[in-house]
Amino acid sequence: MLRLCFIVTDSSTLARKRVERRVNKYLSLCAEIEDTAARIYRQLAASSKIPGELKIILENLAHDEDDHAAPPRFALRFSSGSDFTLKSSDFAPAQALLKRAKELLEKTNQLNFDVGQAIEAGIELEQDFCRIHIDNSLEFKNDSLKKMFAALAQDDKIHNQKLFDAKTRFL
Ligand SMILES: [Fe+2]
Ligand SMILES: [Fe+2]
Repeated sequence: MLRLCFIVTDSSTLARKRVERRVNKYLSLCAEIEDTAARIYRQLAASSKIPGELKIILENLAHDEDDHAAPPRFALRFSSGSDFTLKSSDFAPAQALLKRAKELLEKTNQLNFDVGQAIEAGIELEQDFCRIHIDNSLEFKNDSLKKMFAALAQDDKIHNQKLFDAKTRFL
């Protein structure tokens, strides 16, 4: 009987560790996506074809994306797997978004985007980011973490609006 109890506890510990690893993988993906977005905006702002006022908007977006990488990193350091429930173990959409973001970063490294290309690239990214946040793979059991992550989705909606405003203003 004692032996049976030990086996049950042990397998649940293993299962918990497995969930924690998946959660950490997802959080790392989220942080890397935000880091890449920040680098894309900085690269767009550095283009010689972008006017000064739009550069400031893009640099501010880059700064916000830097801040967005903080909640997933905070959760990685200070939360445990029990703060989350995995809604899906399919991280393919997040992985695909990271891949596309990296490709876009590569392109912005090679080309000087003009105003139209820069704004369209930003809008495309933000729309996908909003979708990823809404449809993300984690459910939060901890209220403060939930609020932290909900704020990211809200911010990316605002980013989208800023880029649409820039479209009207600069194109
Ligand atoms: Fe973001
Ligand atoms: Fe954003």
